Order: sequence, then C-alpha cells, then structure tokens
Amino acid sequence: MCEVSRTVRVDLGDRGYDIHIGRGFDSVLQSEGSGTTALLVSDSNVDPLYGDRCAELLTRRNFKVERAVVPAGEASKSLECIQSLFDHAISGRLDRRSIVVALGGGVVGDLSGFAAGTYLRGVKFLQVPTSLLAMVDSSVGGKTGVNLPQGKNLVGVFYQPVEVAVDLDTLATLPDREYLSGMAEVVKYGVIWDAPFFEMLESNVAPLRARDPDVLASIVSRCCEIKAEVVAQDERESGVRAILNYGHTLGHAIENACGYGQLLHGEAVSVGMVYAAELSCVCRGFSREDADRITRLLAALGLPVGRSQLPDGVPWKALRSAMASDKKARSAIPTFVLSDVMGSVAFNCDVPEDALEAAFSALV
Ligand SMILES: NC(=O)c1ccc[n+]([C@@H]2O[C@H](COP(=O)([O-])OP(=O)(O)OC[C@H]3O[C@@H](n4cnc5c(N)ncnc54)[C@H](O)[C@@H]3O)[C@@H](O)[C@H]2O)c1
Repeated sequence: MCEVSRTVRVDLGDRGYDIHIGRGFDSVLQSEGSGTTALLVSDSNVDPLYGDRCAELLTRRNFKVERAVVPAGEASKSLECIQSLFDHAISGRLDRRSIVVALGGGVVGDLSGFAAGTYLRGVKFLQVPTSLLAMVDSSVGGKTGVNLPQGKNLVGVFYQPVEVAVDLDTLATLPDREYLSGMAEVVKYGVIWDAPFFEMLESNVAPLRARDPDVLASIVSRCCEIKAEVVAQDERESGVRAILNYGHTLGHAIENACGYGQLLHGEAVSVGMVYAAELSCVCRGFSREDADRITRLLAALGLPVGRSQLPDGVPWKALRSAMASDKKARSAIPTFVLSDVMGSVAFNCDVPEDALEAAFSALV
C-alpha cells in the first residue's frame, strides 16, 4: 500500500477538511463507515474504470455501498440527474448518517455535491476527483450545483465535503485533451498567486506533458494549497475568491458564444488568460514580457492562445454580448481580474470599452 504523500488542510473551522493527495485509493481515502450507507456516484466513463475498486474499498471501510452512474458529459449537470440521484438515495435508504461519494470529474463533483447538500437538508459528502481540473479546482472549495436550460451553474449551494481523496494514478486514463484543459487552471494559480510556481511550470513542460507522477504530486498539492488558502479567506466569494476567475470573463463568453463542448473549459480559459494578460498590460502596467511568458507557457502545454484557434468565425460582437450577461458583470459591464505583476492580481477591475475590443484584436 502506498503512503499518503501529502495532506492539505482547508481551514474553515468546523467545516474544515483535509485533501489527501497520493497514489492509490487505499492510501488517500481515509473516511470510515460503521454500517453507514455510501451512495457512490460516477459517470459512464469513470465508473467502468474505477467504480468497482472504489466500491470495494468503501465496503472494506464498513460502508454499505449503493451505486449511481450518470452519462458522462456536461449535460448531466441537470435537475433531471439530481432527481435520479434522489431516487437512488431513497431506494438505497440513505439517512442522515449516510455519505455521498463523488468519483469523477467536475461534472460528477458539482452534481453529487448539490445532491448531498440538499438531500435531507444535507448528508456528508466525499470528493474523489479523477480529472486534473477536478483535482486542482472543482473538488476544493464547496461550490456545487447544476445548469438550467437558461445557463450554466444557475442553481447550487455552497457545501463543503468532509474529505477530498486525490488518487493521482487515475490521471493515467484521462484523455489528453481533458488533461491539458486542466493544465490551464494549473497555470492560472501561478499567474494569480505564486510567481515561483509559474517558473517551476515553465521549467517542467516536458514532464508535465508526460504526466510525470512526482511533478504531478507537487503541482496538484501546490494548486490545492493555493485554492485552500483563497477559500479559507473568502468561502462565499464576497471578495478575494474572485481572483480564481482570472481568464474566465472571456473564457466563459467563448464557451457561451461558441456553444458548450466546442472548446473545453480550460481551453477557453487559456485564451481568456492571454486576453486578461493583454488587458493587464494596457490597463495596469503589467509587463509585456510577463504577458508573453503566459502565452508561451500555455502554447507549450498545447493549449489554444489566440483568436485563430477559436471555432470558425466567432464574432467579437457575440463574445462582447456574452460577457455582458456573465454572472459577475455589473449592469451588463463585465469586470475583470487583471495582473499587476506575475503572481499578483486585482479583482473587480473595470476596463474602458474601447480597450476590450482592441485587446481581442491584439490576440494572434
Ligand atoms: N465547483 C467548482 O468550483 C468548479 C470549478 C471549476 C469547474 N467546475 C465544473 O467542472 C466541470 C468540468 O469538470 P471536468 O473538466 O472534470 O469535466 P468532466 O467531469 O466532464 O470530465 C471530463 C471528461 O473526462 C472523463 N474523465 C474524468 N476522469 C477520468 C479519468 N480518470 N479517466 C478517464 N476519463 C475521465 C469524464 O468522464 C468526462 O468525459 C464543469 O461543469 C464546470 O462548471 C466546477
């Protein structure tokens, strides 16, 4: 059995929890049951790969395991899938002592967390993230929810897990495009919080692309530490937590205007970060050299960085109008997280209207 390699604490008082990062479910998943029921939720890609192994471990840890599998993909972040999880919970007789276990990417995590936070007004919730994005971002911090036909993440609750168990070995089966998409969020942490971490990424492009386990252990841990620190300062995003949206104002607009699924979330955020860096040069005196470093690193990691890599002919007007309806916009005026120096950003920044289109035109 592997040792737990690293533990990161999310310090939220009586709602605090540990993130265990290592290799093998056995070494990272610490929760114990006592005949308690666990509803193990996964998706149609992840369940065949890891569902049995995770269920066996939960059984050995004295949980009675019920299983639910949703179709893989964003469409499962829906009220229909919430209803189907509630159906499983009721037929499996989940009670107040039960736990919902999310085994999968951000879709399974957000969906299961919302079900856990609302079923019987809240049962325990355990995150077992299997995509890079879920490991470094969505499984930490307690944002859960589903989409409505009218828009993404419109219904949800802040609901913290009792534990996050990150088995890095699961990344071996993650499709390359999904893996690299998660890498965009990794780069984001360097840009917003930690310049030496950004440098470390620059020096480790080949091991990162090769999914070197040691490098992965240290980058996933560092990202979790940063997210934990930000969330501990501002759990409900009334202030500093907004910095995690670096690159997301344009990123969300790209996803929205191009149709979800055309570009993966991290791919859209990658172009959005290049755009935010360009705006930062114009509006906050961010150095052109550091903006170029961001573009170079994202490109070296195989991520899109320019207009030419967006789906055919997405017009600026469509992006501008999608930015106006962003949840974070104030009276249809988009706000931005912008860089001052590498590793430090400001949030809620207004940008003059003419600079918005000029910065987009400046993208390659
Ligand atoms: N709650 C938050 O704070 C937060 C933050 C960021 C993103 N999100 C949400 O996360 C979602 C995106 O998450 P995602 O990128 O993980 O998408 P996802 O859950 O759809 O997973 C991506 C794909 O990879 C597959 N997959 C996952 N792990 C695998 C593995 N180990 N091996 C093989 N295949 C695997 C999945 O089946 C899916 O097809 C979005 O809905 C987004 O809104 C939430």
